[in-house]
Amino acid sequence: MIEKIHVNLNLNSYNIYIGNQLLDDISISSVFLNHKNSVIVTNETIYNILLKNKANSNFYNYIKDIKFFLIQDGEYYKNFKTVESIISFLLNQQYGRDLSLIALGGGVVGDITGFVASIYQRGINFFQIPTTLLAQVDASIGGKTGINHALGKNMIGSFWQPKGVLIDINFLSTLPKKHFISGIAEIIKYAIIFDNNFFMWLEKNLLKILQLEENKLLFCIKKCCELKASIIENDEKENGSRAFLNLGHSFAHAIETYSGYGKWLHGNAVSVGIVMASYLSFQLGILKKDDLFKIINIFYNIGLPIKGPKHMKPNDYLILMSRDKKVLNGIMRFILPISIGKVKIFSSIDKNILLNAIKKFQKKIYFFNS
Ligand code: GLY
Repeated sequence: MIEKIHVNLNLNSYNIYIGNQLLDDISISSVFLNHKNSVIVTNETIYNILLKNKANSNFYNYIKDIKFFLIQDGEYYKNFKTVESIISFLLNQQYGRDLSLIALGGGVVGDITGFVASIYQRGINFFQIPTTLLAQVDASIGGKTGINHALGKNMIGSFWQPKGVLIDINFLSTLPKKHFISGIAEIIKYAIIFDNNFFMWLEKNLLKILQLEENKLLFCIKKCCELKASIIENDEKENGSRAFLNLGHSFAHAIETYSGYGKWLHGNAVSVGIVMASYLSFQLGILKKDDLFKIINIFYNIGLPIKGPKHMKPNDYLILMSRDKKVLNGIMRFILPISIGKVKIFSSIDKNILLNAIKKFQKKIYFFNS
């Protein structure tokens, strides 16, 4: 079964296709790849998976004449150097503005490829074929592209929508478990922001998702894509409600920047960030204790971390968070859950309350028994 979600952005509209073994359905993948004018950007890990399965792969047969550009795997390489290497290749090969880039990989491949597409000869088309859970439920949709700077994660980038997103859950069987679990953090994020029923569904079905049960996976990926599509349609460039999707991300980006890119998986940092944001909300008298317990437990039970890096001090968070993209007029803004399924933007939070929330999940695990 193929699910199709339309993202309505007027001239920048596109479709998201979701299914199992979708890449091998050439009637779909040929929408994304045009032999003459496509370059596939991927990394060695994904390229090797393609090669390993080439004997039984319609997709491999279909793309074998298309040029590949391989980048190094990991968040550490999401930088100007990699961007420059892709652009040099494209220029050397004399590609013009009719070129389409295909991002085949996880969030790093998608973010860099999209960024290159947005600046190459003032902008060319690109398509997303996300291969990790995290990229399938979040990063590949919505047109946020970019790279990291030593002083902050995703600090350089653009909004540049893909022309289509093809989500093939078949890739997830090749994904290392820790990356898969890390992606679940973003799914839980969607439930906490938008939908208590979805949260309860996740509490019941997390084990089946971990076991890659096809219908459960398709259900939750589709759910996240639909929620994201509707947010993007209303606020493409994050002037309002799109910021909700950054729940926990101010803390998470601080953790990733402090630790060195690639040391902490993004979803793991998001798990700690959402726990901190939820505790902050609880401390402010907004989030009920019962909801706080549920949030901490769902992350803990799936094996996601709920405490930050050992040596990172509360003040280290503050310094990095003061450069967050949500800072407005020098004032930090936080997305906080007010209940499960609802969030709100808060600013001017007392510094001591903030430091206390960070401290709570800095060293010792805060045990909750509901
Ligand atoms: N990952 C959050 C967003 O796309 O807005």
